[in-house]
Amino acid sequence: MSTTTENHETYFPVKYSQTTITELMIPSYANFGGKIHGGILLSLMDKVAYACASRHAGTYCVTVSVDEVNFLAPVEVGDLVSMHASVNHVGNTSLVVGIRVESENVKTRQIRHTNTSYFTMVAKDEQTAKPKQVPGLILEDRNQLRRFIEAIKRKEIKKRYADEFDNVKGSENLDEQIGLLDNERCRLSIITSKNV
Ligand SMILES: CC(C)(COP(=O)(O)OP(=O)(O)OC[C@H]1O[C@@H](n2cnc3c(N)ncnc32)[C@H](O)[C@@H]1OP(=O)(O)O)[C@@H](O)C(=O)NCCC(=O)NCCS
Repeated sequence: MSTTTENHETYFPVKYSQTTITELMIPSYANFGGKIHGGILLSLMDKVAYACASRHAGTYCVTVSVDEVNFLAPVEVGDLVSMHASVNHVGNTSLVVGIRVESENVKTRQIRHTNTSYFTMVAKDEQTAKPKQVPGLILEDRNQLRRFIEAIKRKEIKKRYADEFDNVKGSENLDEQIGLLDNERCRLSIITSKNV
């Protein structure tokens, strides 16, 4: 493993913590429609995010947020699901783990990309349970550079979204916004300025 130290800070390459978990989708993971429960996949994603993040951090980590879980295709019983995890970005105590989920039909050998998600994990100090600084990241190819930059942009967009949403949510005057319901499939059975 090529590790470097600069100003007493340790840096690890992305490949050091890259982790893949492969699991067979057994019948007890299925929903009533015979497909795999989304929650099973989320749990596996959390597991691989933890493995990857704690390998990089050298300490235990907690999941702080998950960005965008869109299931693009159903996963079938009997499929082999692989979760490929890689540290995309490190902050001070947090790191972003990108997870690519692929589902393989062993009979046809067809591999489908079912989703890609980004888990933000925070490293914790075992004694104090406070956030702990994580090692820096060595970017060794253009893909790793691209993912690092995209993580910065995603963080900025998320912050802007959170700020903007803070301004609109909990708005006191619901009656002023009742027009938003015009094309929605709901019926009001409460009294508002629209139906008095
Ligand atoms: C995440 C947690 C450690 C943050 O604690 P805190 O005292 O607020 O610490 P800080 O404000 O210093 O944040 C620590 C890091 O988390 C990041 N962070 C905090 N909340 C975040 C969020 N919602 N999304 C992304 N990153 C977040 C901060 O940006 C900071 O990153 P940095 O050090 O790389 O700059 C704390 O909220 C926690 O323990 N949450 C519970 C997590 C958990 O138990 N998860 C399992 C699910 S049950």
